[in-house]
Amino acid sequence: MEFLDKIILPQSAEHIELLHYMMILVLSIFIPFISIIFGGTFLSVYYGSKFKKNNNTHYKIYSKDIIESVTVNNAVGVILGIVPLLTSIFIFAQLLDQSKINTVNYLILAFIFILIALIMIYTYRYSVTFNFIFNSVNDNDLNDSVVKEELNKIKISSSHLNNRYGKLGFAFLFLGMWFFVTGITSAELFTTWDISSIITAMFAPSVLLKFITFICMAFTITAADILFIHLYWNENKNDENPDYRKFLKNNASKLGLRFGIPLPILIAINLFSLSDKNLSGSIFIFSFLAILLLFLSYHFFFMLEVKNDYRFSSIIFITLILASISLIIKDEKAIGNATRQHSLVLSTEYDKILAELKGEGSVTAALSGKEIYDVRCASCHRFDRKLVGPAYFDVLPQFVGKQAQLVAFIRNPVKVNPAFPPMPNPGLKPQEAEAVAKYLLDEFAKRNK
Ligand code: HEC
Repeated sequence: MEFLDKIILPQSAEHIELLHYMMILVLSIFIPFISIIFGGTFLSVYYGSKFKKNNNTHYKIYSKDIIESVTVNNAVGVILGIVPLLTSIFIFAQLLDQSKINTVNYLILAFIFILIALIMIYTYRYSVTFNFIFNSVNDNDLNDSVVKEELNKIKISSSHLNNRYGKLGFAFLFLGMWFFVTGITSAELFTTWDISSIITAMFAPSVLLKFITFICMAFTITAADILFIHLYWNENKNDENPDYRKFLKNNASKLGLRFGIPLPILIAINLFSLSDKNLSGSIFIFSFLAILLLFLSYHFFFMLEVKNDYRFSSIIFITLILASISLIIKDEKAIGNATRQHSLVLSTEYDKILAELKGEGSVTAALSGKEIYDVRCASCHRFDRKLVGPAYFDVLPQFVGKQAQLVAFIRNPVKVNPAFPPMPNPGLKPQEAEAVAKYLLDEFAKRNK
């Protein structure tokens, strides 16, 4: 994306950290919202056609109730759907700046599809309401045959329109979310991801696993949302129709449990699909928390059924939103771990630009690479044997051809090998770090001949 490259500059380490927090915030808004739209659109279309087949009015009301409760109104679609998605694209563009990975392209594709989907789904939502109104006009009350005929025409065409927008909207959302998941997964597997074709990427096992997890989570949260809105929030709305209320409660509870039960297993498998190097304690903690919250939600679904106390519907909803946020934090941590090295490269670049702006850049390092090595590194490192730190022959091969990453490490050492203590920051200036890195790589190439 050329135009993004132009407006995006390498960022300072502090700024990159801030971007990670922003990403958690933005995705915690976007994912629960889009999950509910995803599940709700599918269910509403599904029950709409079910009504056409067997004329059970419960299905008709259910189809309308679902889509009305998940879409709320147009402004919500923009605020909770479009804005966070766009923001996340900019965040990823900054985090992954100067890398060859396709994450941002996948996300832009996702954005286009999801935007079209939302427009269609909101159109569908209003057409469902109109349809409902047209259909409740009883043509036996009309005695003018011309009006009767017109009314029937409108009924039919509005019902076609409604069906088409609902189905197409869902299809676009399905593809859009698939692209989105592909983008997120590629960032999570940043260090090992080498797939360039989008089709291969979309069918990568790790992407499919994540997409299935998303779908299950989406239907579980949608079920919780339906229960919450209709049993708790609009408590009195269906008072005159207790039959329907019972239908809604049983239907949504069953749905929630059916899609909720496989989730812990899917989350556990996902943990194993991450490379060991990028696993960390917080990833386990947030995965575990999500699983714990899911088990709690099963319990509350059960209580709703047994005790028939509708207040449980709000607790189920909150529990599941929290589970979803735990999963988002877990994913974000995985992305942070996978891109840590790359972030160091970027922040080093930033320091260099800053140094140049301050007028320090043109001055070459006062000491040569060898001098810096002798004074600052040799106390802990030799090429051929380990002292306090590892032998360079053991650790330099991974940096061959990657001087920027070596510079980044020297300027900001991170914990690498548990067999060694962490390396203290030698506090070198950008040019000094560059000089010593170049010296080490040159020496390494010479001695390795
Ligand atoms: C006080 C001792 C000490 C000094 C001084 C020191 N290092 Fe290290 N270095 C270590 C230790 C310990 C490790 C292993 C850290 C780990 O694995 O977490 C290490 C690891 C490394 C690695 C391997 C990183 C990796 O990804 O495996 C490189 C490269 C390195 N140091 C370069 C340097 C350079 C260049 C200097 C001088 C500017 C330097 N070190 C100064 C102790 C030191």
